[in-house]
Amino acid sequence: MEEMKWTQLWLGYHKIYDGDSAWQIALDGFGGEQRVIANALEEFKKAIEALTGEKVLGGSETASNSKTLTVSKKDSIPAEGYKVSGTQEGITLEASDERGALYGVFSIIRQIACGKRANEVSEETSPSNPLRMMNHWDNMDGSIERGYSGESFFYVNEEIVIDDRTRDYARFMASVGINGIVINNVNVKGAASYLITDRYFDKVAELSDIFADYGISLYMSLNFASPIEIGGMDSCDPLDKDVIAWWESKIKEVYTKLPNLGGFLVKADSEGRPGPFTYGRTQADGANMLADVIKPYGGIIIWRCFVYNCTQDWRDRKTDRARAGYDYFKEQDGAYHDNVILQIKNGPMDFQIREPVSPLLGGLTKTNQMLEVQIAQEYTGHQIDLCYLIPLFKEVLDFHTYCAEGKDTVADVVSGRTMGNTLGGMAAVINTGNDINWTGNDLAAANLYGFGRLAYDTELSAEQIAKEWIAMTFRLPEKEADILCSMLLRSREIYEKYSSPLGIGWMVTPNGHYGPSVDGYEYSRWGTYHRADHLGIGVDRTDKGTGYCQQYYKENAEMYNDPATCPEELILFFHHLPYTYMLKTGKTLIQHIYDSHFEGEEEARGLAADWDSLESVIPAESFKRVKERFDLQLYNAREWRDQVNSYFYRKSGIADEKGRTIY
Ligand code: GCU
Repeated sequence: MEEMKWTQLWLGYHKIYDGDSAWQIALDGFGGEQRVIANALEEFKKAIEALTGEKVLGGSETASNSKTLTVSKKDSIPAEGYKVSGTQEGITLEASDERGALYGVFSIIRQIACGKRANEVSEETSPSNPLRMMNHWDNMDGSIERGYSGESFFYVNEEIVIDDRTRDYARFMASVGINGIVINNVNVKGAASYLITDRYFDKVAELSDIFADYGISLYMSLNFASPIEIGGMDSCDPLDKDVIAWWESKIKEVYTKLPNLGGFLVKADSEGRPGPFTYGRTQADGANMLADVIKPYGGIIIWRCFVYNCTQDWRDRKTDRARAGYDYFKEQDGAYHDNVILQIKNGPMDFQIREPVSPLLGGLTKTNQMLEVQIAQEYTGHQIDLCYLIPLFKEVLDFHTYCAEGKDTVADVVSGRTMGNTLGGMAAVINTGNDINWTGNDLAAANLYGFGRLAYDTELSAEQIAKEWIAMTFRLPEKEADILCSMLLRSREIYEKYSSPLGIGWMVTPNGHYGPSVDGYEYSRWGTYHRADHLGIGVDRTDKGTGYCQQYYKENAEMYNDPATCPEELILFFHHLPYTYMLKTGKTLIQHIYDSHFEGEEEARGLAADWDSLESVIPAESFKRVKERFDLQLYNAREWRDQVNSYFYRKSGIADEKGRTIY
């Protein structure tokens, strides 16, 4: 047997039933020469043959017992949406565009892989979000910023690699409805600055073509200082006429070579990256300049709001990193041109296991917005620890911002429903690499799958997504599928319990961000403090503290401002409280810290035991890989438990009521 080079993730197509028909394909309004349609049909053929043993007949072939997949163009179906329905005669698929047809095919495949017979297939849907994007933080040298699954499969030694894996990757992304991919790290340095030059155009065009085969637009991260770094100029001031002229000619060249380019993602004035602030200009000046230049080509500028002072003095209690995004971007709400989207991280800090929703989401009411989440598990266990993130993303999407009557959730805002705008959506920092299983931990693929599904349909539940992913990936008996589903659904809370308590965040090993170091960032420049002393812990972000609470609309501002109404899972994010503070559970704060850490570690052992119970039904290689991860997770959970508990015991001098071992 040929050695497997990489897994097929959820497109492994296990046999579901033995069918007895053959399939014919009929197109109505679409043409088989349309590249996306051709690939959709190819996928149908591959999937149906593997799932049911039923062949798809070639043009002239016939069979006595044939069924037909009819793919019809129907303009009344919303963009990128589809309607599929099975009958005794076959399946009809209606869509108004190629992407919709492709997604419809994947819906048919998903439904059959999840247990339906072809004649039972039925779904009518269209995407919640116009843009559903993956952001790669891949560097041209092959490394990946915050990558935990091996090296990049896009780049080796500053060259772009295109092979079968690239095509499989595009298939996987299309199968969950992803329609845009940013191929390089937001920190654009060195060779990556040259992606918009002749050095890389041919290869980028080739990559862009493969993506286009699957309805995906290619985007790149842009170096705001390109005029200096590759243009030899001495400024990148966005209001400088020569700088603008340089960009005009550069973007013209780019679109001549890459006519299908979706646009650019820009990280400016952040963590050492250059930006408009250098020249006394605003973020809007920078974004609008690029947006105007790219507009004639139909491109968009996605401008990140991750702007904050990263050289803070820990002694300074007035400056609050959590405030920064809103402070920098709210003032210019409405000033951004219509082909600019502001991309906002889900929380005001940086992808912690628990954060409040960023007040910028919905805080802006006149600007296109996109939600950024991170499925790369930078702060949530490096794809070693199991952490199914879809429940976290659901909480963010369902959060009521109070920005409007009715349609005021984050899902409403980023989808465009609140403001009636057409540019917005969701982006994820991706968790892939060139590991055999793509995501380091086989179970972390649930986040990859889940993000796409959720971005396409924000109404899906975390549980439904988990079930689909399990069925498609492993095809387990019901009992075992339930065990795995429960593992996924418990995992986020477990990680939260053994790591930093009650929304305070951080306490991670500096730089790498795996494992505990309670004071690791306490005296740093990054604005990431817990402020624990012998009496209490937490950051006062109320009206008497940094005033961060007041960045929310009144309902939320008041709720967060008062410890009595503040959701307790976030209480230390908003309040500095004594260890003796009584929580609603009737436990003191310190007792909660002890209990949750003991429980979290124990529950992590429960996850590992559950995994062991699945050994007979999981493919051996996969089982082994995940088991090795659990061994590491248990070590990590124990370190977290003991370091956090010991730290707070030593600070507070208050003993655990239950007398358990604390060091
Ligand atoms: C985090 C992460 C960085 C990344 C940054 C960003 O701070 O640690 O590696 O560059 O986010 O989102 O830009």
